[in-house]
Amino acid sequence: MNDLTKPRIASRMAHITPFEVMEIQTLARKLETQGRDVIHLEIGEPDFPTPRPVVEAAKRAMDEKPMAYTRATGIAPLRAAIVNFYSERYGVQIPIERVVVTAGSSAALLLAFGVVLDEGDEVLLADPGYPCNRHFMRALGAVPQLVPVGSASDYQLTAAIAREHWGPRTRMAMVATPSNPTGTLIAPAEIEKLATLAREKGGSLLVDEIYHGLTYGVEARTALEAGDDIFLVNSFSKYFQMTGWRLGWLIVPEAYARQVETLAQNLYISPSTVSQHAALACFTPETLAIAEARRAELDQRRQYLVPALEALGFRVPVVPQGAFYVYADCSALTPDSFTFARDVLERANVAITPGRDFGRHEPERHVRIAYTQPIERLKEAVARIGAMLPRKA
Ligand SMILES: Cc1ncc(COP(=O)(O)O)c(C=O)c1O
Repeated sequence: MNDLTKPRIASRMAHITPFEVMEIQTLARKLETQGRDVIHLEIGEPDFPTPRPVVEAAKRAMDEKPMAYTRATGIAPLRAAIVNFYSERYGVQIPIERVVVTAGSSAALLLAFGVVLDEGDEVLLADPGYPCNRHFMRALGAVPQLVPVGSASDYQLTAAIAREHWGPRTRMAMVATPSNPTGTLIAPAEIEKLATLAREKGGSLLVDEIYHGLTYGVEARTALEAGDDIFLVNSFSKYFQMTGWRLGWLIVPEAYARQVETLAQNLYISPSTVSQHAALACFTPETLAIAEARRAELDQRRQYLVPALEALGFRVPVVPQGAFYVYADCSALTPDSFTFARDVLERANVAITPGRDFGRHEPERHVRIAYTQPIERLKEAVARIGAMLPRKA
């Protein structure tokens, strides 16, 4: 008989750990039930609602369209709209066969890793980085190789660093630009070098552009410019504020398209039908105008927050130029970012994420602060943290 108090859990689960940010969030919610006003700067999603034209398109689709499964790669008009978006915004032409609409970019990552990686294959990725990547790889039996990166390379993997770490089992390098948690970008010339290295080594390059569009003061470019053999991941979650709609996309090298479709059919049949019809409204001038206005608002918040944190004693060695995060060095304020984040929550009622979520490279020195709240709330958060810190002599 099975002992239900001792479930037989697959050994791979030993490598798959919960998000620290969720623990912080649970604590924050508990404090809120006690009547405390918590400012949430821990969450990786903006406070803006989904743009109205997208919501209206969803309602129309619910009335007028069959809510049936779609093709695993997504409805043709949405794939065509994505092709058109790359052409108009970035001047890059891609064949529609390379576009796969997915259940969030999370599914796009799983599909890309799934068609490339064998058990034991290794993937180079930056530490600090988005935690799910390494967990996706582990779920597939592949091995993440976390490469420590610091401010000298803008917290990014460069071609030189990747070359140094590329081993006999390395099958892929992956980067995110802008990155979570650091908000830093990789220059297009460096992406080209990374693509060249992957080619030379007979491997693949995957570029996560989920924060595409959310860049400040820099011209938006796409890694698709660097060659048609790159796996590119993108999403409706962040720029279009559709996190809960679970919709993203993957641009695959043509030679992998059939296998990606087969894997998607098997893993989840198709992405959400209503979300796909809604997302058609993303590429209209009305929605793009809303997204751009919000980008300007995020930039204002960023311009306020970075110097305000520095004035409190945080260090921000590389000013973030994208996404909505500041990866701040808090070592002048505390030896341990984990205890510090809990302290900030309990004493200042501000939720922030300790570095521990993002890897093993100096997590105790860093916290991630998301500017996903209106500027007045950011000001209040800074004042509250300032009040709990010891006064400078
Ligand atoms: C770098 C990065 N990639 C991928 C994702 C997954 O997002 P989604 O599945 O909502 O597209 C996130 C979410 O925060 C992220 O930060």
